[in-house]
Amino acid sequence: MGWERADATSARGLTPLLEERFSTRVFDPGYTLGVDDLRPLLEAARWAPSAGNSQPWAFLVGLRDDETHRAFVPLLSRGNAFWVPRASAVIITLHRSATDPGSDMLYSDYAAYDLGQSVAHLTVQALAAGLQVHQFAGFDHAATALAFGVPDNWTVTTAVAIGRPAPVESIEDAEPSLAQRERRLRDRNPLQGFVFAGTFGSPAEIAPAPGSR
Ligand SMILES: Cc1cc2nc3c(=O)[nH]c(=O)nc-3n(C[C@H](O)[C@H](O)[C@H](O)COP(=O)(O)O)c2cc1C
Repeated sequence: MGWERADATSARGLTPLLEERFSTRVFDPGYTLGVDDLRPLLEAARWAPSAGNSQPWAFLVGLRDDETHRAFVPLLSRGNAFWVPRASAVIITLHRSATDPGSDMLYSDYAAYDLGQSVAHLTVQALAAGLQVHQFAGFDHAATALAFGVPDNWTVTTAVAIGRPAPVESIEDAEPSLAQRERRLRDRNPLQGFVFAGTFGSPAEIAPAPGSR
């Protein structure tokens, strides 16, 4: 794969696919994906675990400039309106938030968790194909539900932009502030801030992985 990040050391020690994952805002607007390219990604989502195998997820798939894509782009928040349409594909994600009418498949309390996990699996499958994925929530969820005829018991949750990253210089003139954000160091809380043992809040004794920050 080999696109370069200023902070390529920040996730060192993970499996190479996860080392290279980041939420790019610089997609190559000339790179095209087809439904066949998306199929393995959606299969990865499909085979994710879920509570009681409830599979409480649904996806609305748009390829750049197709009908779904065209209907979704005007619903993006201002901050996402430049970079999202340049991705090759956008997938709107939904989880079942109440039992389907007439179905014996009960609503699961873990539906949002399960959807997130299926998107994580989709992401890793995309990385293996040399793609990057940027999840986002900044769009008009109510208008999206209306535009796509989403039933009341399903919740529009996030969307996922998928494509090939392009060099940050390619957006320098059009979107200098976005280019600056793209160069920003990625940061995370330290393990001791959220990995506990004994009682909540007592950091577990885990040595940091070599090379991690
Ligand atoms: C639920 C969710 C909502 C997000 N919404 C947005 C968004 O609206 N716009 C955006 O640029 N990034 C969005 N992001 C991306 C995060 O900002 C990003 O994952 C985080 O800053 C960590 O950066 P990294 O993914 O490069 O490690 C979202 C991510 C998630 C999981």
